[in-house]
Amino acid sequence: MRFAIRPATLDDAEGIARAHTASWRTSYRGILPEAVLERIDVDQRAASWRRTLQDRSVLTLVAYDVTHRDIVGLCDAGPSRRDPGTGEVYRMYLEHHARRHGLGREMFEQITDWLRSRSLHSLVIWVLDNNHHARRFYEAMGGRPDRRVASTVSGFPIVELAYVWDRL
Ligand SMILES: CC(C)(COP(=O)(O)OP(=O)(O)OC[C@H]1O[C@@H](n2cnc3c(N)ncnc32)[C@H](O)[C@@H]1OP(=O)(O)O)[C@@H](O)C(=O)NCCC(=O)NCCS
Repeated sequence: MRFAIRPATLDDAEGIARAHTASWRTSYRGILPEAVLERIDVDQRAASWRRTLQDRSVLTLVAYDVTHRDIVGLCDAGPSRRDPGTGEVYRMYLEHHARRHGLGREMFEQITDWLRSRSLHSLVIWVLDNNHHARRFYEAMGGRPDRRVASTVSGFPIVELAYVWDRL
C-alpha cells in the first residue's frame, strides 16, 4: 500500500497547504482562470489551516505517502455552516498522483463515521457545478445533486452545487 490516511496534527498545516494548493492548480485548470490559481498564497493557506486544526468542532484527515511521509491530500468536515443539524465536508483534495487509489472513499467513510458519532446523520458537500470528476465521485458515494448557488472565487463567478445525503 503506497498511501494511508491519519488524523491531522497542528504540525501538518504547511504540508496540507502545499497539497491543497497543488490539487487546486491541477483540478481547477480550465475551470477557474489561471490567474486565480497562480495567485494562491501557500503561506496564507497554511495560516488558515493552522486555525482550522485548532478548531475542535472540525475533523481534518490527511492522506500521506507511506514512504516519504509527504502529505498528498486532505479532507475536513464538521457541522454545516449553511444547514444547521447537518454535517458538511468542507474540503476534499488529493494531489493528482494520489487519485483513484481509494483514498477519497476511505476518507469519506472515516468522515461519515465521525459525523454519526456526533449525532449528525445527514451530510452536504458543495462542489463546483462543472467539476464533473468530483461529481461522479460524490455520486458513487451515494450523494444526490440538490440545489445550486451562484458565488465567486477571487472575484470570478462560479456556480456551486450541493450534494446531499439524507441519512448517513
Ligand atoms: C474527488 C476525489 C476526492 C475522489 O477521491 P479518489 O481517491 O480519487 O476516489 P476513489 O479512488 O476513492 O474513488 C471511489 C469511487 O468514486 C468513483 N470515481 C472517483 N473518481 C471518478 C472519476 N474521475 N470518474 C468516475 N468515477 C469516479 C468511482 O466509482 C470510484 O470507484 P472505483 O475506483 O472502484 O471505480 C479526488 O479525485 C480529488 O481530490 N480530486 C481533485 C480535487 C477535487 O475536485 N475535489 C473535490 C472538491 S469539491
